[in-house]
Amino acid sequence: MKVHWPVEIAGTGVALPSRVVTNNDFASRLETTDEWIHQRTGIRERRIAEPHESTLGLGTAACASALRAANTEASEIDLLICGTITPEHTLPTTSCQIQAALGCRHIPAFDQVSACTGFVWSVATAAQYIASGFAKTALVVGAECMSRITDMEDRGTAILFGDAAGAAVLRKATHPDSGILAARMGADGGQALAIWVPAGGAKEPASTRTVNERLHYLRMNGREVYKFAVSKMQELMKGTLDDAGVKLDELSLVVPHQSNQRIIESACDKLGLPTSKVVVNIDRFGNTSAASVPVALHEAMSAGRIRRGDLVMLIAFGAGLTWGSVLLRV
Ligand code: UT7
Repeated sequence: MKVHWPVEIAGTGVALPSRVVTNNDFASRLETTDEWIHQRTGIRERRIAEPHESTLGLGTAACASALRAANTEASEIDLLICGTITPEHTLPTTSCQIQAALGCRHIPAFDQVSACTGFVWSVATAAQYIASGFAKTALVVGAECMSRITDMEDRGTAILFGDAAGAAVLRKATHPDSGILAARMGADGGQALAIWVPAGGAKEPASTRTVNERLHYLRMNGREVYKFAVSKMQELMKGTLDDAGVKLDELSLVVPHQSNQRIIESACDKLGLPTSKVVVNIDRFGNTSAASVPVALHEAMSAGRIRRGDLVMLIAFGAGLTWGSVLLRV
């Protein structure tokens, strides 16, 4: 949809566990190889949290770093949204705990549980709070400890995921032409079981049986999700540009969810978008769910790949199934 949400990114930050796990670390204990993983996914290594590290600490550190980059105090934040499917606890929300850890005022803080789409939906949500005047400055974070819900005995998923957090401070645009020009958000609950965690909710509470049957780990129909992701990513990129009346060659950079390098390349190839205009860091971090877009965004901003006036698209898809995009004039 064509929109006019006058917001800008004031600063970004990331937090990563220090432990690096390479493909060869999996090859030594699962029936897999570095070659298979790299060819099928683009991944070389990922970060995995140590036992003392978790979503709250990573999310808080990423937010603190984004606040410093934005030259903004925690007390100036009016809204905090945390995209996560691996919350610190089932209750309360991780966003409330980050709010307290940072020393924010008693501002609204809520979690966004749409998996890999979490950060993009959080940006679209926060932007509307800012556009409506409800908030002037918002802190948006994607924080995940995917290793805590990943079955490390399942080679189909163990090799894919990583842990990370990325955050951005959004505020009312200071330049008249800056802001979000188009956004799309969608969901198809008919495909809910394409990526899911069978137990731990109201239907299958934790029991000895659910633990023994490994029902607390993420399950995924990789092939189905792959097909969905390629066609949805291409459709979203084209549709979002059309909504804003922007031509493909006017687009400066795409920051996509890092799910699989082949998915990203295939969608860009079908659309005719050169890969030089796409941020890819899956080789170093794997798929970090809601953290993947903000980590890639932070790397692109730090490397000087995003300048004022650029047209940048954030785009993601994931469990739900859900999808979302935001086209931003920086
Ligand atoms: O972020 C949320 C969204 N998630 C995604 O976007 C993930 C989308 N899906 C994918 O990225 C890919 O489907 C995977 C990377 C998960 C799998 O790649 P694939 O090329 O689709 O493989 P496949 O599932 O079709 O399996 C092909 C073969 C199978 O063996 P058989 O049945 O042909 O004998 C698998 O058992 O590869 C086997 N396989 C592996 N072999 C070595 C699956 N995982 C591995 C592995 N190492 N790690």
